[in-house]
Amino acid sequence: MTKNAGVMGFPISHSLSPRLHGYWIEKYGLDASYSAREVKPEDLDQALTSLPEICRAEGMEFRGTNLTIPLKEVALNLVDELEPSAAKIGAVNTIVLKEDGTRIGRNTDGVGFRDSLADHLDINRFKGGTALILGAGGAARAIIYACLEMGFSKILITNRTKERAQELVKDMGNGCEALPWEERSETLNQVDLLVNTTSLGMTGQPELDMPLDGLRKEAIVTDIVYVPLETDLLRVAREKGYGTVDGLGMLLHQAKAGFEAWFGVKPDVDEALRAFVLQGLHKK
Ligand code: ATR
Repeated sequence: MTKNAGVMGFPISHSLSPRLHGYWIEKYGLDASYSAREVKPEDLDQALTSLPEICRAEGMEFRGTNLTIPLKEVALNLVDELEPSAAKIGAVNTIVLKEDGTRIGRNTDGVGFRDSLADHLDINRFKGGTALILGAGGAARAIIYACLEMGFSKILITNRTKERAQELVKDMGNGCEALPWEERSETLNQVDLLVNTTSLGMTGQPELDMPLDGLRKEAIVTDIVYVPLETDLLRVAREKGYGTVDGLGMLLHQAKAGFEAWFGVKPDVDEALRAFVLQGLHKK
């Protein structure tokens, strides 16, 4: 029977996930399909309950789904088992259905971020280091989780709305400190990894104002924004001689765990996949 998974969100037409998973399904020659489904938060439980039956009627076995905005948080209460990644990050981006219908909720965004860095550098260099995180939304939570797993000993969180940064410090715990947004450039001489998790710098959004003067020479600068692929932050960092990692890698790497759990093949992230997904971005 054809295995089916997909992505749910509202809206959903912008999602690159069908292109990404479709590429892997074809590459590995699998009897599988991946569908984009527009689902509102109040309909998520019903969608998850009815899809196994609906899929069966179409000759498919529903294996689970990715979730995107605005479903990641509501899903916390709709799964039977919450993996530590999802509990700590406070959001579910991947649901895996067991044979008996049990819903497992996990969050692979943090792992995606880590693996994207690992494509470019040895992440062991960050043990005992300091990270500076710009922003305190959902993406920041996943990245802070990844930073804690990578062994950073200090994680500075700075956000326009101070209270959100303070809340994150409370939730994420050891090693996290909130830093006033106005002082975001003042600690750069301690920073080993700088991450923009805000929407600033994305096409159509205001630019991020983040001077890099004083940033440690060995520091790595990353952005979760991937439209444009090279944001102003990354361009300036590159021109100043810093190592940079763009936001597309996180998107590609976060998808691996779901694909493997649903379809039984561990997929590769490589240049050909990047190029294929990028083409999709340009079409949007
Ligand atoms: P996500 O869950 O994708 O991270 P989000 O929760 O909307 O999205 O978070 C967006 C981040 O971008 C927040 O940190 C937001 O700051 P606030 O918490 O103060 O809203 C940040 N952001 C968006 N626009 C901004 C701006 N003009 N200046 C500074 N920060 C901004």
